Amino acid sequence: DRQVTIRTLFQKKKEGKKITMISTYDYLSAKLCDEVGIDCILVGDSLGMVFQGMESTLHVSLEDMIYHAKAVRRGAKRSFVIADMPFMSYQVSLEEALRNCGRVVKEAQVNAVKLEGGEEISELVYRLTSIGIPVVGHVGFTPQSINVLGGYRVVGKGEERERVKKDLKALEEAGAFMVVLEAVPMDLTKELWENSRSILIGIGAGPYCDGQVLVFHDLVGLVEEIKPKFVKRYAEGAKIFRQALIQFKEEVEKGIYPSEEESYG
Ligand code: KIV
Ligand code: NA
Repeated sequence: DRQVTIRTLFQKKKEGKKITMISTYDYLSAKLCDEVGIDCILVGDSLGMVFQGMESTLHVSLEDMIYHAKAVRRGAKRSFVIADMPFMSYQVSLEEALRNCGRVVKEAQVNAVKLEGGEEISELVYRLTSIGIPVVGHVGFTPQSINVLGGYRVVGKGEERERVKKDLKALEEAGAFMVVLEAVPMDLTKELWENSRSILIGIGAGPYCDGQVLVFHDLVGLVEEIKPKFVKRYAEGAKIFRQALIQFKEEVEKGIYPSEEESYG
């Protein structure tokens, strides 16, 4: 299969073919995604929660993101790799933001960066795009603003509806080629999609998008504590792994493992 590019992604949008994206943080899971033909792999800053066990994405550092993006890149031969820019790596100044985005692209060889926000980052989106760094936007619920938003919730009902529309418009005008819509009511998503120039990828945004993204560990059932409404578990990963660990423990304790078969002569 050929390398996924911006051109092949736009071709899919044009033909009405759905685009798939998985958020993950390591070589092996990225390799699995790549092998089955997932279009895009996002090195999401959700790694703060899923990989590091933190309460939110706010603690994730630029060094963390580069470390994980490098591992994912090695596993993703044909998939389009996008790296999240972590909180405070692009908010202080345009100059600092450009330098940090450039570092991620140069050091981890990702294809694009993802930034949360709308109008307030449009200047940065324009600059990045013009120097050759493709930008993915992220509107609706934006986890880096969790303290302002007041917890995980749907964004885009009532008065917030116009805000979301304005933000998407600003991102598209600034040159974002793709935008993630998170926890947005599906009728708003539909309206946005019908008027969209960019590729719209939903998570908790309903079916009216160009594609969907889920976190690897959520969809394979490794995350057991919380299950948002939009998550679908396609496997019982935690149950399968737990069973394997219990069996290993029992076999070692009973002297069953290792047998001769697993030992050197
Ligand atoms: O960090 C992440 O994994 C994300 C996706 C859920 C869109 O931003
Ligand atoms: Na993210």
